[in-house]
Amino acid sequence: SAYDYPSAIIADRAGVDIILVGDSAANVVHGMSSTRGIGMQEMLLHVKAVARAKPRAKVVADMPYSSFSTPFTALRNASKFLEAGANAVKIEGNKPEVVEALAKNRIKVMGHLGYLPQTDRKPRSKGKTAREEEKLIRDAKSLEASGCFWLVLELVKEKTAKKITSNLSIPTIGIGSGRYCAGQVLVFHDLVGLNPTGFKPKFLKQYSHLSVDAERAVRKFASEVRSGKFPEKKHAP
Ligand code: KIV
Repeated sequence: SAYDYPSAIIADRAGVDIILVGDSAANVVHGMSSTRGIGMQEMLLHVKAVARAKPRAKVVADMPYSSFSTPFTALRNASKFLEAGANAVKIEGNKPEVVEALAKNRIKVMGHLGYLPQTDRKPRSKGKTAREEEKLIRDAKSLEASGCFWLVLELVKEKTAKKITSNLSIPTIGIGSGRYCAGQVLVFHDLVGLNPTGFKPKFLKQYSHLSVDAERAVRKFASEVRSGKFPEKKHAP
């Protein structure tokens, strides 16, 4: 998941297959407490910024809360994302009628099951009970039959994610769902350690610690300005 021009360039150069412009931008870059706080206006700006990087990776726009409440609304808003440069859209939950309407209009859809940040109260892993697991498998099959191209599984128990993956022919993409999904997604800021709030769930692997480096750099800049060490003659126009 990446939300802007520089992170899209970095992710694309690094060779990822998909850049998801996630509504997690609400928490990660807007400091909101819920993904419900972000709307079409902001998400369109994020999608446009990512699309300007002209990535080779597919750009998937996350449809914000209430932007896909009916097939008609979903179609209208998904079309805006495609105009903004997205190749596909993602919707949370099992909404077969919405996926069908989008698919009929040749719009590629990524599904999203498990923990659903737009509607679940707080993060919790799904698929613990046999009943929950059966429902997840049923919903996954329903999304595939409706026309989804990929399916995100968020915080799904590993054994359940494995069963879902082997029951589908479309790829599953896991986040906090263990080892057996076809692909994996992490938020750019989380994986590069650019998250100064200290957010570090168990499933996250931080591959670098950019917040620490950035804070050190800004601290040095401020101190050099105060002491007169920066700017030097070579920095003058
Ligand atoms: O919004 C997002 O970034 C997501 C991923 C975590 C799957 O939905």
